[in-house]
Amino acid sequence: MNAEAGHKHVVTRRSALKGAASLATLALTSNFPRPAVAQGAAIKVGFMLPYTGTYAVLGKNIDNAFRLYVEEKGGKLGGRAVEYVQVDDQAEPSKATDNMNKLVERDKVDVVVGTVHSGVQMAMVKIARESRKLMIIPNAGADAATRSACAPNIFRSSFTNWQPNFPAGKVMVDDGHKTAMTLTWKYSSGEEQMAGFKEGFAKAGGQLVGELWVPFPQVEFQSYLTQIADKKPAAVYAFFAGGGAVKFVKDYAAAGLKQSIPLYGPGFLTDGTLPAQGEAAEGIRTTLHYADDLDNPVDRRFRAEFRKRHNVDPDVYAVQGYDAAALLWIGMEAVKGDIKATDPLYKAMRAAKIDSPRGPVTFSPSQNPVQNIYLREARKGKNAFVRIAHQALADPGTGCRMV
Ligand code: BEZ
Repeated sequence: MNAEAGHKHVVTRRSALKGAASLATLALTSNFPRPAVAQGAAIKVGFMLPYTGTYAVLGKNIDNAFRLYVEEKGGKLGGRAVEYVQVDDQAEPSKATDNMNKLVERDKVDVVVGTVHSGVQMAMVKIARESRKLMIIPNAGADAATRSACAPNIFRSSFTNWQPNFPAGKVMVDDGHKTAMTLTWKYSSGEEQMAGFKEGFAKAGGQLVGELWVPFPQVEFQSYLTQIADKKPAAVYAFFAGGGAVKFVKDYAAAGLKQSIPLYGPGFLTDGTLPAQGEAAEGIRTTLHYADDLDNPVDRRFRAEFRKRHNVDPDVYAVQGYDAAALLWIGMEAVKGDIKATDPLYKAMRAAKIDSPRGPVTFSPSQNPVQNIYLREARKGKNAFVRIAHQALADPGTGCRMV
């Protein structure tokens, strides 16, 4: 049920008529203020992000870059000031429903921006579908959010789990690696990312020789590394992110595997983590919708501004936060700040063409980014652009029916 519609206001016919009459009187006799819609009250943006735990840096960068975009636009969306509310979701699915309800029911935000972890995201999707609250996903790749569970009020500024992984299979076969083992955290994102990779790898003629699963967010990798050394695949394909990616890449190198069995992965394996991974990451090839040296004018300005404010280079998570704000800004301009005008708001957001630090971004019918996927290589602390692995890749949006 629509929760906004579900709030019962009991109004009898007599009290309604009496109320209407006195409102009419007031309107005639004074400058009775219109309810705060368009230009009045501040827009309330609710961030539901991990501010603690293994994905804390990812959440912080999304938040910082979203605010940066809004500040660059004079601190306003559709002419209205912006107020922020934060909820730390700790990348913890068991707390996700309560946390989302805090923003929607308690804080009554106008829009939810969140989150990072796919498992948490799917609980948020359920509430967004029921409440019809506008939600922009600034990272989590949960495929279903813009496939079978798509909805007019759900947009994503990041990727589906399939998107950055599907092109990697061909990249590895083109690099001469015909057999591979996969290794990832066992939760929905890891499973979907490996499925995307396997599809591309099989299509390119590669053969999978083993799959290893690590409980999330565990970072004890030794026994898995021993199994890889025993099996000797031509290459390994792995997904970890944040603190887990730092530890894994270092452990892989320390186990002496890096030279004999090249390590590949979606770009989350090395994005935002290179300063901590150091030499251990050198030469790792990954696929992602961002690289550190795309060197377009928007990216140059964004990187300089982000670095100036936060004293660190931005990463893909920051780009996704920045573009979440860009997407909302486009919609809010179209409706001149009237966020309740959902039909024209969503129409404008769906039609958005964002000149992003990552390159051009448009949106598929299921409201997910259509974007280039780049092959990158870690060189001297940067995820250096190698080539476009797949141009303007759209998720298939399988099963999406917008109702
Ligand atoms: C996810 O859970 O969808 C996810 C988390 C971190 C990086 C990429 C994907």
